[in-house]
Amino acid sequence: MLEAETLAQQPGSPVRFLILISGRGSNMQAIVQAIAARGLPAEVCAVLSNRPDAAGLEWARSRGIPAETLSHRAFDSREAFDQALAQRIDELAPDYVLLAGFMRVLGADLVRRFEGRIVNIHPSLLPAFPGLHTHAQALAQGVQWHGCTVHFVTPVLDHGPIIAQGAIPVLPGDTADALAGRLLALEHHVYTEVAAWLARRQVSIGGDGLVRVAGAERRAFTAHDLTP
Ligand code: GAR
Repeated sequence: MLEAETLAQQPGSPVRFLILISGRGSNMQAIVQAIAARGLPAEVCAVLSNRPDAAGLEWARSRGIPAETLSHRAFDSREAFDQALAQRIDELAPDYVLLAGFMRVLGADLVRRFEGRIVNIHPSLLPAFPGLHTHAQALAQGVQWHGCTVHFVTPVLDHGPIIAQGAIPVLPGDTADALAGRLLALEHHVYTEVAAWLARRQVSIGGDGLVRVAGAERRAFTAHDLTP
């Protein structure tokens, strides 16, 4: 992939993020708050959920952000849903589509159409533990480090060029819920760092398929990076 293809389209104007959610949207909230608190050159043009009852929608509306539902249940097939979503993405014209707890698998056609512009957060240290129940998977394998990955989306589920990762130790007595809770705070930090890099147009994908982040000191985070 050419480096230029991954750069946001209109240098100089605020980078437009469309954030896709399916539920509570705490990662979305962290990104919205970071844009305001850090004065990032970015705007969230809309929040879109595939579930009408997603709690994050109300939160977005309360912040004046357009929030809408595109229910997958309204479509006969995955392809039809993807087509409607692609049309909406075209209309909203975001520079990046940020998946933040969006629990629908996107088809290859949609992913290719927006290649290099769809970013996801997954609650594991990819390539370990793609799919669901990542915290239980981690405990079942006895790994001693768990974490999250922010990556560009490719047609392969939970796979793609890695932008940043966050790691937490697995502690004696940890349950899946305990791990998930401890990881979430780090997810917010990692995703907001990535959002800041995207907003400042620092992120590209090299000819080797690996991510470059111009000026980033490092792209690996731990709980030590969380401000108290
Ligand atoms: C987060 O833990 C995110 O990593 C995960 O869903 C949660 C959403 O929380 N995403 C996936 O599992 C995607 N495969 P949030 O709605 O509070 O951001």
